[in-house]
Amino acid sequence: MPKEITLQELDTGRFIEEKVRDIREAVGDGIAINALSGGVDSSTVTLLGHRALGSRLRTVFIENGLMREGEARQVTGWFRELGVAVEVVDARNEFFAALAGVVDPEEKREAVTQTFYRDVFGRIVKESGARHLLQGTILTDIDETVAGIKRQHNVFEQLGIDPQEAFGYRILEPLIELRKDGVRAVGKALGLPSEVFTRIPFPGPALAARVIGAVTPERIETVRKATAVVEGLLGDTGAFQYLAILHEDRVTGMRNGKRDFGLQIEVRCWDSVDARVAQPTEISFDVLKRLAREITREVPGVVSVTYNITSKPPSTIEAV
Ligand code: XMP
Repeated sequence: MPKEITLQELDTGRFIEEKVRDIREAVGDGIAINALSGGVDSSTVTLLGHRALGSRLRTVFIENGLMREGEARQVTGWFRELGVAVEVVDARNEFFAALAGVVDPEEKREAVTQTFYRDVFGRIVKESGARHLLQGTILTDIDETVAGIKRQHNVFEQLGIDPQEAFGYRILEPLIELRKDGVRAVGKALGLPSEVFTRIPFPGPALAARVIGAVTPERIETVRKATAVVEGLLGDTGAFQYLAILHEDRVTGMRNGKRDFGLQIEVRCWDSVDARVAQPTEISFDVLKRLAREITREVPGVVSVTYNITSKPPSTIEAV
């Protein structure tokens, strides 16, 4: 288990200097690659890597078809402003093919992980000749995987998986001693714009972690639209994280005076410091009703919107 550096102990200047040196040492005069999802962790690693390696770090955004609305455009735009070129690789078909017929939560995670690391990334790394992959794994990812709660998308060594053997490249994880609050501080110190370093967390398996049951392009579109409404309405709560989940069960509703056996969306909004424990945010009933109105209006097929009032534990933040 890596040693933790708490926010109180963190000296961002020294941390950045040390990690830049470590990355340069590990990569030597070779090249490295990293996948940018636009989350705080991968955005921070991208800037750290570019500070260390300049154009010898190739940054790709994998369009897996599971991201939020307009994500690729927004993320590449932010980094263009920072002087970092980001390549977009369209792998939507591969991810949906791997997820077809998969309903078990752990199998879903595994399908996304294998498609990402072995198939899509494996191919990109092989073609590029890079020997190193730079990745934004943080301590919380490791905790939950090792505890056997959830297999986090990006954890290997702690599970006895050697990435060199499994995928053919080494993984460098400069943020591994930090938690989310520490990563935000490092991101800020590196010059990330505040709309990026204050972004709410988003899981590696992306919207596939928020669809219970089959993951199809249509069902992802449903949860994507609901997510846009939730993020729009809860953005000013100051909450740690807020999200929409598409349920598998249908319920009877009515639309235009007719019976409609429709879809259910669950909204979750969390107060938390580091995602290890979390409490549901006390949202006003007016806002809750607005969520219901807008989701049923904007998202085709939805007839029921619920709000989760359970804490973590026993809940978890994501649904899958
Ligand atoms: P959970 O759902 O385990 O989430 O309470 C803890 C935090 O980690 C984020 N996150 C993930 N969650 N699988 C997950 O279930 C992943 O691969 C993953 N990656 C990140 C999650 O959004 C929450 O902030």
